[in-house]
Order: sequence, then structure tokens, then C-alpha cells
Amino acid sequence: MNNDDILNHLRSIDDPQNGQSIIDNRLVSDVEVGDNNISFKLGNNGWSPEAKTSVYAACMQVLQKAYGDDIDIHIHFVQIDPSNQANSAYPHIKNIIAVASGKGGVGKSTVSVNLALALRALGAKVGLIDADLYGPSIPTMFGLQGQRPKMKDLHGTPKLLPLEKYGLSLISIGFIVEPEQAIVLRGPRLGGIIKQFMNDVIWPDLDYLIIDLPPGTGDIQLTLVQTVPLTGVVMVTTPQEVAVADAIKAMNMFLLPQINVPILGVVENMSWFTPKELPDNKYYLFGEGGGKSLATMSQSVLLGQIPLVQGIREGGDSGAPVMVQNDDTLQTPWLATAGKLAEQVLIRNEKLPPSRKVEMNV
Ligand SMILES: Nc1ncnc2c1ncn2[C@@H]1O[C@H](COP(=O)(O)OP(=O)(O)OP(=O)(O)O)[C@@H](O)[C@H]1O
Ligand SMILES: [Mg+2]
Repeated sequence: MNNDDILNHLRSIDDPQNGQSIIDNRLVSDVEVGDNNISFKLGNNGWSPEAKTSVYAACMQVLQKAYGDDIDIHIHFVQIDPSNQANSAYPHIKNIIAVASGKGGVGKSTVSVNLALALRALGAKVGLIDADLYGPSIPTMFGLQGQRPKMKDLHGTPKLLPLEKYGLSLISIGFIVEPEQAIVLRGPRLGGIIKQFMNDVIWPDLDYLIIDLPPGTGDIQLTLVQTVPLTGVVMVTTPQEVAVADAIKAMNMFLLPQINVPILGVVENMSWFTPKELPDNKYYLFGEGGGKSLATMSQSVLLGQIPLVQGIREGGDSGAPVMVQNDDTLQTPWLATAGKLAEQVLIRNEKLPPSRKVEMNV
């Protein structure tokens, strides 16, 4: 019976807050071992009284099973200092990145999905939230229409397990309600769903959690920044001036002093058209320069330019995005963009303090 041994036994117990081990969440401290007694401190990570009782009972049970019923066990609950842990509710999710745009249809979902897959291809652990509650597209893009997430009971609270496909962990309103029902969701319920996607889903350890937003600056964006400590935002635009004008409006919401979420960079989508049979030709159908000028205006960088090609649209519609197909030429720009995004996240995390949820009265 020694400290390591005890920690190993307690490792099997989940934090009701997020399904991670109480040890990995660093909630156990000051372990003391005597001849016939064990005592330690257990941080209460915002648990309900029921969850607290259940964790207590689980700790007693594993230790008594390991060391016998006669052992004297003292568990002291302590409050954890939330100001000390910027990401305290999600310590196992390193970076949370929202993908936003001004206009609809510029390719946010396409960018979210293929960037997530490209980050995964570069070796990262990645999750994806479809926060477009009115028009979820993740189920179709992954060929998961009609699938439902599994439930897991966590100390008396039912939680959702994300769906897994192509190495990503995924959640979408489309996995929970029928598409035609999503349309009746309004303000407070929308906010509730975003909160549930973070708090009632058991996310695995992730390097990046990507959030695919609906267009513009609505309730969902506002709720998101108040619910989730965002690492930053990726803006998507097409090259023409009108798209950029709308993107600036959307971007300005994130840059408001009371919100203050960093812009990690800009992805210019549909930068040029390249027909399959003429792979070296570029036709600038939507003009040029939008991505660059948005990056300059946000004092961020152009992460990449993605051509308009038939394979990208087909991949999205068929449930097999280009990043999981066998076409290097189509994957190259996504991999380059993902690499640049990872670099900007590193720079951001060195320069700025950890992200926090935005506190505001709206
Ligand atoms: N680079 C591209 N090449 C070809 N087709 C593309 C490209 N990017 C997006 N598309 C297609 O354009 C359409 C709109 O893209 P997408 O759904 O990703 O946009 P969105 O910004 O998420 O739209 P919404 O605002 O409705 O959420 C889709 O059919 C998608 O397959
Ligand atoms: Mg979309």
C-alpha cells in the first residue's frame, strides 16, 4: 500500500463533470498512508450533491476492494479554485477552435471537416462539433445520417458518447433530433444545446475540438463564447469583396472588447476553379485577394487557399470528404492549411493567457 498504488486504484474513477479520470483531472492530492489508514483530498469539480456522493462511494469501494474492509479511509472534499484553471471543466481538451463566416454557403462546414481530418492526418487527436443547429451538415458529410450517439451513465447522470468516424469524435444536433425538428429550436434552447454538447458529452483527450458554426453573428455565436473557453476563431471567406464585407462584421463580434476571442487566421475558400481535366489551370471566378485582405484587417494570417474543385463538393455529399479519399492533389492545400493553423495555435498559446469563457450580461 503506497501512494502510487492508491493513485492507480483511484484512476478508474470518472469525474462526473467530463468523464475523465479524477486522477488525470488532478483532483486527488495530499495522499497520506499509515499502517491501516489512507487519507487524501478530493477536489469537488462543481459536482451536484448526488454526483459527490457517488464519487465518494466509488473511491471507498475501490480502496476497500484493494486493501480490505477494515482499512480506515478519510476523504476530505475541497473546493477547487476555478480561477486557477482556465479550462477547468475541460482540462483534457487542449484547444477549442470555432470556424465562422459572415455569409452562408462559403464553405465553413467543408473547411471544418477537412481541416479536422487534416489535423488528424498530421497526428493530432481531433473532435468536431456541428453547432449549426438549424442546418446541421456533419451527419451527411460523414455518411452518418440517422445514427444516434450512445449513452453512458456517469455517477447517476446520463451522458452522450460522441460518434466516431475517420478517427474523429463527432457530435451534431442531427444525431439527436430529426432535421425538420431542429428548425423549431429558439434562443434559450439553442444555448442549452451548445452547453450540452460541451458538458453532457464525454469527449476523449483532444488536441483540437473544432466547432462548425452557422453563418453570421446570432444567438449561437454569443452562447458559444459564454459557454466555452475558445482558443480562437478561424474565419472562412470567398475571395470577392462582398463576402469579405460580411466576414468583417462577423469577425468584429469576436473582437469586441468584452468578448475578445483571438482570430487565429483566415481560410480563403473557392479561391480559384480548377477543372479535373485541366489540373494546372486556375480560373479566378470570384475575384482575388479577399482572404489576404481579411487577414490583414484582423491582424492575423492567411492560413490557406482552397480551390473550387468538383471532388470537394462530391466528397461532402457522399459522406467521404476529400481528406479521406485517395487524391493527393486535393489534399495538399488542406494539409498545408492545417499545418499553418497548428502553428498559429502554438503562437497564440505562447503569447496570450489561456482562454476563458466570456462573462457578460446580455
Ligand atoms: N472548395 C470547394 N470546392 C467545391 N465545392 C465546395 C468547396 N467548398 C464548399 N463547397 C460546396 O459548397 C457548398 C456549401 O459549402 P458548405 O456547406 O461547407 O458551406 P457553409 O458555409 O458551411 O454553408 P452554411 O452557411 O449553409 O452552413 C457545399 O455543397 C460544398 O460541398
Ligand atoms: Mg455549414
